[in-house]
Amino acid sequence: SFPPRIFSGIQPSGGLTLGNYLGALKRFVEKQDEGIETIYCLVDMHAITVWQDPAKLRHATREAAAGFLAAGIDPSRSILFNQSQVSAHAELGWIFNCVARMGWMSRMTQFKDKAGKNSENVSLGLFAYPSLMAADILVYKATMVPVGEDQKQHLELTRDIAIKFNNDYGVDFFPVVEPLIEGAATRVMSLRDGTKKMSKSDPSDQSRINLTDDADTISKKIRKAKTDPEPLPDHLDGLKDRPEAKNLVNIYAALSGHSPAKVVHDFAGAQFGTFKPALADLAVAKLEPITTEMNRLMQDPAEIDRILAQGAERADAIARPILEQVYDITGM
Ligand code: ADP
Ligand code: NA
Repeated sequence: SFPPRIFSGIQPSGGLTLGNYLGALKRFVEKQDEGIETIYCLVDMHAITVWQDPAKLRHATREAAAGFLAAGIDPSRSILFNQSQVSAHAELGWIFNCVARMGWMSRMTQFKDKAGKNSENVSLGLFAYPSLMAADILVYKATMVPVGEDQKQHLELTRDIAIKFNNDYGVDFFPVVEPLIEGAATRVMSLRDGTKKMSKSDPSDQSRINLTDDADTISKKIRKAKTDPEPLPDHLDGLKDRPEAKNLVNIYAALSGHSPAKVVHDFAGAQFGTFKPALADLAVAKLEPITTEMNRLMQDPAEIDRILAQGAERADAIARPILEQVYDITGM
């Protein structure tokens, strides 16, 4: 009963990583090219749940927009905008704060990870983050959300919020969204520690590949990536207890468009001294055109701002009438 519509977002809280590219951007472009309606958002209001330097946030927002465009997002086919420019997100977010339960939020593992032992002293926004994320999605009545593995629990909460809202008000208003978690690299791991996800918030720059890294830096990081001394196995099962090796195979698979099984088959018995340079060449070949285009786009920030403003206008035109209905349903 709800027409297919895709929504997803990325935090402009630092440069984009290979994890963001393979887990999100690359798939955002694929969905756009399948001809489904696609809405992509730079979620700056999520970014400020942890303090951001204002000048850096402004720069990172433009840089993330450049990353989307360079990766193949076409602003005439996808809606690309900045969350804070469409106030319907914050407005519906508040209503969802009143629908979601404290207990639900307390179970979010990302909050526990990010807050650590310091949970008394993190922002209230960090705790409420998944409720704003639900609003981001549902303010467009989006039905599908392409994300990495790490967002699965938040999407389940989005479903719970939609169901509870519909029940509380006796309506069939919000769709119950489907997470689109697919492909070899829905969880790209750190190059320094195969048990942690690659993230822009990791303090070690060696742990990640940034979309702004030059060819030389990418090659060096891959050659220095942590591995074990064994050669590659001839079968996927042989990667089971080898998180670092498995991660590099997954990255190769995602970049090449082949399955991890084929990559293992092709490199069966190879040492990392052979595999890593092949992976480095592939990563450079795939990422260098994106980096070059990002740098070109960043020369003209006014043009990026213009694209984002246009996207915000189109996003608002969809979100505002849905929000008006929500106000009506809730008696406001
Ligand atoms: P980060 O975790 O780097 O701060 P975001 O929270 O802004 O990034 O996530 C943006 C999108 O990128 C989400 O869809 C998320 O699932 C995806 N993503 C982030 N890191 C990774 C990763 N290491 N592997 C796969 N996908 C990732
Ligand atoms: Na994340």
